[in-house]
Amino acid sequence: MTTVGILGAGQLAMMLSQAAATLGVKTLCLAASADECAGQVAPLCVVPTADPAAWESFVAQVDVLTLETENVILDLATFMSARKPLCPNLESLAVSQDRGYEKALFQSQGIRTAPYSLVDSLNELKQAAEDLGLPAILKTRRFGYDGKGQIRLSTVDDITRAWNELGKHPLILEGFMRFERELSLIGARSTQGDMAFYPLTENWHEHGILVKSEAPFLQAQLQAEAEDYMRSIMLGLDYVGVLAIEFFLVEGQLVANEMAPRVHNTGHWTIEGAKTSQFEQHIRAITGMPLGSTEVLGHSVMHNCIGMMPDKAEILSQPHAYYHDYGKAPRPGRKLGHITVVTPR
Ligand SMILES: Nc1ncnc2c1ncn2[C@@H]1O[C@H](COP(=O)(O)OP(=O)(O)OP(=O)(O)O)[C@@H](O)[C@H]1O
Ligand SMILES: [Mg+2]
Repeated sequence: MTTVGILGAGQLAMMLSQAAATLGVKTLCLAASADECAGQVAPLCVVPTADPAAWESFVAQVDVLTLETENVILDLATFMSARKPLCPNLESLAVSQDRGYEKALFQSQGIRTAPYSLVDSLNELKQAAEDLGLPAILKTRRFGYDGKGQIRLSTVDDITRAWNELGKHPLILEGFMRFERELSLIGARSTQGDMAFYPLTENWHEHGILVKSEAPFLQAQLQAEAEDYMRSIMLGLDYVGVLAIEFFLVEGQLVANEMAPRVHNTGHWTIEGAKTSQFEQHIRAITGMPLGSTEVLGHSVMHNCIGMMPDKAEILSQPHAYYHDYGKAPRPGRKLGHITVVTPR
């Protein structure tokens, strides 16, 4: 039986493990602590700090490696990929870890991005703010998620304050996009090179955190364009696994925001809303199985449960609602679960 080693043990590792089990694939999740939520459904290998001896014993137990977050330390990923196949590969991970590399890759493939400037000093930040104009968004190049490590600059007075807060990290200043919509594309490429794409998903964020996704967003031209973009990124990186690209729709045009080398929160609706979930698709893609159908089963709306879970009985009494509780301790701003409502066709 194939065992997939997952670098991480949060809710994405949990849902990957559930999908793997139905395919007859085992998982082992590398966790920082024993209470991480994937432990509810899969064995954990608990390694709290960088410990090559523990990493060695983890990698010896698995056949193929994958990620549930791009924010894994590159030393760990490098160590692992020298021993077993890592899907997606190191290059894909390295690009997705850095908003600067990511934007350069998008542009090299002819994909529009927000105007941006890499910033290493307060003077460079002042210059960049003048060049791009305000408002603009200052972001850490690495290790951001759920809107963390980002400050919106509205006036020149914000510049020094933002620098004092984030200036110890490598930074990027992005022009503020006045978008009509936010869309994401989720697709997969298998070890054999087959590709499959889900329909575009429309997303809503509050304070930088995803609150709602709806799919399918049906617009044939945008779908084709987004798939072309993803195809060229996947081929360029020799990418294997599920990939997500987030877009802004600006004046009818797709502008790439960022990519995630993994299953993605905006694809959670596929669990009940598509013939093959993104989690199953990822396991199929990295273990050499044929990819599954991405056909939708209805119109899906996914709500994230942030900071608290809703009343379970109320959700369960709805005929087309699906309740997902990740079993995590409540904390303000923390993703604790999600609810998907699929209206059948
Ligand atoms: N340049 C921009 N112009 C306008 N809005 C932006 C810009 N960059 C980010 N945002 C808003 O903030 C949200 C989060 O930004 P981004 O995706 O870069 O951050 P993140 O922390 O990596 O989020 P996640 O990993 O959860 O997707 C975006 O989905 C969008 O709503
Ligand atoms: Mg994002």
